Amino acid sequence: MYQAWISGTGAAAPERVMTNDDIAKLVDTSDEWIVQRTGISERRVLSDDEVTSDIATAAGRMAIEDAGVDPKDLGAIILGTVSPDTICPSGAVYVQHALGAGTACAFDLNAACTGFVYGITVATSMVQSGLYEHVLVIGAEGLSKFVDWTDRASCILFGDGAGAAVVSRAPEGSTSRIVDNVCEADGESADLIQIPAGGSRRPASPETVEAGEHFLTLNGREVFKFATKAMVDMVETALERNNLKYSDLDLLVPHQVNYRIIETALKKLDIPEEKIYLNLDRYGNTSAASVPIALREAVERERLKRGDLVLLVAFGAGMTWGYNLVRW
Ligand code: UT7
Repeated sequence: MYQAWISGTGAAAPERVMTNDDIAKLVDTSDEWIVQRTGISERRVLSDDEVTSDIATAAGRMAIEDAGVDPKDLGAIILGTVSPDTICPSGAVYVQHALGAGTACAFDLNAACTGFVYGITVATSMVQSGLYEHVLVIGAEGLSKFVDWTDRASCILFGDGAGAAVVSRAPEGSTSRIVDNVCEADGESADLIQIPAGGSRRPASPETVEAGEHFLTLNGREVFKFATKAMVDMVETALERNNLKYSDLDLLVPHQVNYRIIETALKKLDIPEEKIYLNLDRYGNTSAASVPIALREAVERERLKRGDLVLLVAFGAGMTWGYNLVRW
């Protein structure tokens, strides 16, 4: 079996910034309420003529350049997303074509906010088994196109963006490697976050559109409870499975869901806030893109250096949850 490591990272976001005050012009809310309840100040939003694959491609290109990998050498492109350009074909094929990645295997992975963490897990197996030498994993969302901009309970939360990482066969003798991955799901809670219509259960019709069933719906309070517990459980499982102490972790990059969720989880974990990477104030919840955008920023800002031990933790619709433990 080969070792797999993360050889490059990238991120991209639309230029258009939407502040809390901008949202307060659309629904009955305020900057104060949103900041206090979520920690979010602004988010990026795709313009009418931009699509998810545009930012996914930009993030993917940055990651392969950072890794020094030619697009033609990619064995696979995995796009974690719930908001692709089209339901069929996958968003990944547009990215593959735009990158000039030859005939690389390309597919979407729908695990909602856990999409990137699931993607890294699949890519690790592909590389460790020897199937491919380089796999590009992207988390990208254009959720602004799926949000009900008249629903103040949900429209304040989300933002658009993309982050990426290249999982490669580690050079012999390298200490940098993906140490451990866990991915789990519980379909019993499938109704907590949903886009009810547009699938085979409720095909799109004038009635479903009239009822707004093509928009994302969520049960915020239940998700809040679930997310806090999932974050605590994932960190504890990662430490236990790998015989580590809290102090062994150099950085924790959690899904940027809501500052209060992260803060509540931190109170139960023996991790100081300096060891957490947060950027949700500027991006909101970008679902599958949230962990890889934060990861890229952490690298750029030298919060993460080669040799550090970093834990990526995510949870989302499904419900799904998982982590990647990486020796950087
Ligand atoms: O990645 C997974 C997707 N993410 C999520 O599902 C988010 C998880 N949940 C959350 O982040 C929080 O539950 C929210 C931020 C969505 C809501 O915060 P909360 O503290 O749980 O508020 P709440 O739902 O308990 O609502 C409190 C009050 C309600 O008014 P009443 O009933 O007390 O009079 C809401 O109607 O706040 C009201 N409210 C708002 N007020 C101003 C709800 N949304 C807003 C708003 N602006 N945007």
